[in-house]
Amino acid sequence: MFQQEAHIAWNRAIAPAIFKIGLTCRHGFARTKPGQFVMLRVSEGLEPLLRRPFSVHKLIRKDNRVEGIEVLYKMVGKGTALLATRKPGETLDVLGPLGSSFVLPPSARKVFIVAGGMGVAPMVFLAQHLVASDLNPSDCEVFLGGRTCEDLLCTDEFTALNLPVHTTTDDGSAGDQCLVTHPLENAMGHTAPDVIVACGPMDMLACVVGIAEKHKVPCQVSIETMMACGMGACLGCAVEPRIEGEHYLHACMDGPVFPADALKF
Ligand code: FES
Repeated sequence: MFQQEAHIAWNRAIAPAIFKIGLTCRHGFARTKPGQFVMLRVSEGLEPLLRRPFSVHKLIRKDNRVEGIEVLYKMVGKGTALLATRKPGETLDVLGPLGSSFVLPPSARKVFIVAGGMGVAPMVFLAQHLVASDLNPSDCEVFLGGRTCEDLLCTDEFTALNLPVHTTTDDGSAGDQCLVTHPLENAMGHTAPDVIVACGPMDMLACVVGIAEKHKVPCQVSIETMMACGMGACLGCAVEPRIEGEHYLHACMDGPVFPADALKF
């Protein structure tokens, strides 16, 4: 884990209020694993004081060398609005990579990836990693859900990796008009995967975990939560453990990726 000044290589809107920022760094992110995150200080001033957490969306590679990371973010408040104003050529304070990653059993050949809204952010990196690890992409399936078509992100990137993609929206503006867990449940009825990985809102994760447990399939979830320090110091990211009486877990240090049975939903 490094704290360093990264150079902004690009910072562009890819959809309404959705941006991708490319950050090149002196210290490589070569060992970053899918699911890990970084804390970004979004402005050079004191306001906002705290860094904000963002999943690593992709690694930036040049000549087979990792030169930095790309972050996918949504402009939802003051911090991300400030981040959207930052220009290529400027620098940004980056802390990371932080947290746990998705760890798939070596024997896993069939993986289901489930993402709701911005929960897709770490999943493109994971999909790239799986394909690079010789997994047959057509054995895996991606399930993307959103409220509207504008929430369905990165479908082209999964398709380019030859991963079959199912899309759903609440309003029917793209894909099937249902919850993302409906096509997941259908697919589980045909051939269950070796593992399910999911990221998105807690209610979606709770439903995914329920489906995985019903079919006795291992499941890992990446949770989205507020973080102030990213390093276990503020205790602001506590999550309730599944087993009553056990210590609370911390999303920044114990997660953000957890085995599904570690958490209470
Ligand atoms: Fe501070 Fe997790 S963000 S303890």
